[in-house]
Amino acid sequence: MNVLLVGSGGREHAIAWKLAQSMSNKLYIAPGNPGTAMCGTNVDIVPSDIAALVSFAKTEDIALAVIGPEDPLAAGAVDAFNAAGIKAFGPEKGAARLEADKAFAKQIMRANAIPTAESRTFDKFEDAKAYIASRDEAVVVKAAGLAKGKGVFVCDEPSDGILAAEKIMCDRIFGQAGEKLIVEDKLLGQEASILAFVDGRSIYVMESSQDHKPIGDGDTGPNTGGMGAYSPAPIVTEPLINQIVKEVLVPTVDGMNRNGTPYKGVLYAGIMLTQGGPRVLEFNVRFGDPETQPILMRLKSNLLEVMLAVCDGRLDRVSLEWEPKPAVCVVMASGGYPGDYEKGKKISGLEKAAQIEDVVVFHAGTAEKDGNIVTAGGRVLGVTALGDNIAGAKEKAYKAAGEIDFDGAYYRRDIADKAIS
Ligand code: AMP
Ligand code: GLY
Repeated sequence: MNVLLVGSGGREHAIAWKLAQSMSNKLYIAPGNPGTAMCGTNVDIVPSDIAALVSFAKTEDIALAVIGPEDPLAAGAVDAFNAAGIKAFGPEKGAARLEADKAFAKQIMRANAIPTAESRTFDKFEDAKAYIASRDEAVVVKAAGLAKGKGVFVCDEPSDGILAAEKIMCDRIFGQAGEKLIVEDKLLGQEASILAFVDGRSIYVMESSQDHKPIGDGDTGPNTGGMGAYSPAPIVTEPLINQIVKEVLVPTVDGMNRNGTPYKGVLYAGIMLTQGGPRVLEFNVRFGDPETQPILMRLKSNLLEVMLAVCDGRLDRVSLEWEPKPAVCVVMASGGYPGDYEKGKKISGLEKAAQIEDVVVFHAGTAEKDGNIVTAGGRVLGVTALGDNIAGAKEKAYKAAGEIDFDGAYYRRDIADKAIS
C-alpha cells in the first residue's frame, strides 16, 4: 500500500518516521524536508495545491493520503481525495472548521455545554474595542481564523487587548484570519494537550502531552507554534482523562455529528486545567507540533493500521501499545523567531546528536543546500529523547541539542521542568 503524507514540519517528520517503520510499499511526502527524505521519497508539491496532490496520488497508486497541517484540511484536502476514491486521514472541510474558525468552535462548545472560557465574537473593531474597554480584568484576544499558533494575545491590561484587536482586525497582521475576533476570559492553570483518534463515532485517547507555547523560559514572551513538549504529562491523571473524555471529547464528537459535520482524524483538545476543572482553550484538527514528536516516539503499535481504522470507521477494534518511558522534545529555533529571522544557516552536529541512544532529531524548517543541511524556517529541529524518567529524557534531549549548532540557534532551557518540579 502506497501512502502520501502531506506537510513539511517536525510533526510530518515524526509521522513519516513512524509510518516508515510499518511500510511495506512506498511512502511519499509532499513536500517534506531533509528529515522526511530519510523515511521515504519527497515530492515537490506544496500542500495548498490540492489538485496536484490528488493527481499525483492517482498516478502513483496511493491508497491513503495523510494530511499533516491544518491549512489543507481547512481547504478541503480530505474531501478532494475522497471524491477521487482515495482514503484520506483527517477531517473533511466542514469538520476542520473546529480549528479554522474559532467562532464555530465556540458555537459547538456552547451548544453542547463543553466547558470553555466565556467569550464573545466580533466582526467590527469598534464593537470589540468598546467591549474590551468596558472590562477591567485581563482578556484573551484571538484571531478567529488560522494564524499558525500565533493569533492569540493574553492581555493583562484592557489597553493591550485593544492594541491586539487593532493589529488583528485593522492591520490584518494575520490576513483574513482577522475578519472575526474572539475576546474571552483569561483562564489560569497548567495546560495539557489531549490528542485522540476519532473515526466519526469512537474515540481513542492517546498518551497525554504538554506543549510550551511562549518563546522564553518561564513561559515569557510572545506565543510561538510550540517550543518543546513532553509526554506523558504527569498532571493529567487517569480520573482527569476520564473527565475530559466525558465532558469534552464525547460531547464534541456527538455535537459534530448533530451539526452534520462528523469528525474523523486526530482531534486535539488544548485544555487549561483550572481550579474549576478542565476548560477547552482551543481545538486543533490534526496532530500537534511539537507534541507529536514525543507522542509518536512512545507509540509502539502500527500507526498505519490505526489511521486506516479511522478512515474505515473501525477504531473500536483498535488497541494501541505505548512505551512507558517518557519522551521530551526540545525545539531549536532560528534566532528572532517568532518574529523575523534569517535562513540558510549551515547546521552542524546532526549525526553526533543522533548517535546518542534513544534520541531522534526531527527536522522541521531545514533544507538541503550544496550537500549541507541548512535552516529554512522558524522552528528548525525537534530534538527528542526517551528516558527512564522525565528528568532523564530532558537531560538526553539537551545533551543532543548541545551537539547541534547553527548561527543564531535558540532554544528554551526549561522544557519539561513543570513535570519535574
Ligand atoms: P490557542 O491557540 O487558542 O490554544 O491559544 C494559544 C495559547 O494562548 C494557549 O496555549 C494558552 O497558553 C493561551 N490561551 C488561549 N486562550 C486562553 C485563555 N482563555 N486563558 C489563558 N490563556 C489562554
Ligand atoms: N503545539 C500546538 C499546535 O500544534 O497547535
